[in-house]
Amino acid sequence: MFHTPQGAIQMSRPVEFHDLSKHFGGVAAVEHLSFGIEAGRVTGFLGPNGAGKSTTIRALLGLIRPSSGSATFGGVPYEELDRPSARVGAVLEDASFHPGRSARNHLRILALIADHPASRVDEVLEAVGLTDAADRPVKGYSLGMRQRLAIAAALLGEPDVLILDEPTNGLDPPGISWLRGLLRAQAARGAAVLISSHVLAEVALSVDDVVVIADGKLRAQGTLEQVLGGEDGPATEVRAQDPERLISALRSRGHNVQRAGDVLSVMGASPEQVGEIAGREGVAVLGLAAKERSLEEAFLALTGATS
Ligand SMILES: Nc1ncnc2c1ncn2[C@@H]1O[C@H](COP(=O)(O)OP(=O)(O)O)[C@@H](O)[C@H]1O
Ligand SMILES: [Mg+2]
Repeated sequence: MFHTPQGAIQMSRPVEFHDLSKHFGGVAAVEHLSFGIEAGRVTGFLGPNGAGKSTTIRALLGLIRPSSGSATFGGVPYEELDRPSARVGAVLEDASFHPGRSARNHLRILALIADHPASRVDEVLEAVGLTDAADRPVKGYSLGMRQRLAIAAALLGEPDVLILDEPTNGLDPPGISWLRGLLRAQAARGAAVLISSHVLAEVALSVDDVVVIADGKLRAQGTLEQVLGGEDGPATEVRAQDPERLISALRSRGHNVQRAGDVLSVMGASPEQVGEIAGREGVAVLGLAAKERSLEEAFLALTGATS
């Protein structure tokens, strides 16, 4: 909990970044990043390679020290959490395992160290579909199976917060769809889930909220619908007499707006909604049409990448 300037007490969110920056020598990996994620929802943390996703996650987990700002769980840094593995489960990009050990033994050791009931080992093996392979040495596992084992380890403590850094790497399409079900189930039991990816298509169907970063900076945040227009959500192209005024009115209502010359592309709003907002602002509309576009286009426009 923290006190707002007004003196009211607010509950902190399960994960919060406040003005986080991290420099590696001259490289600004993350700059002034602020956002939070919610319990019971899956948040996609999206951006191209090198955007700063892993750096942000590593700062949250206390693996690197921020240059400035903070990354906390309910206001508490990772190092100060009581029984961290019961609060936070994480799958990092470079998960590694003792090659000669079986998945079951690996999980047993982790459960023992963190004081989780031994019965959790069978439960998480089942949850990630490794029951049949559980007694084989990990060195014979495929990349996808190792990814499943890393997820099993993260689930051992039934954590309130689940963090996965590019977990779709190594998963085939059935694996990705399995992961989607698992993330949805974790959110349904109340966990706050953060999943990073540089491939929007692999996570678009799994997420409620998105945070988009590029070059270490926040580009957009909100529901998938608001930021990228949703999978089949509405989008509109509009020309207006006072485009700047219309842009700020649309943005203040949570819509992602891109401008190309005269034409504004508005995500998550039908032509009727855009017309109504323009009318309320007293901005004359010169042209208005439903827009054909894909999530991917909206994402590329936001991250500044070219296809
Ligand atoms: N340990 C490090 N030393 C120097 N530069 C780093 C280090 N870790 C990351 N970077 C740089 O920081 C930027 C962000 O990297 P990263 O957080 O790994 O991005 P992402 O996970 O989004 O691909 C990149 O330019 C990367 O080269
Ligand atoms: Mg990364």
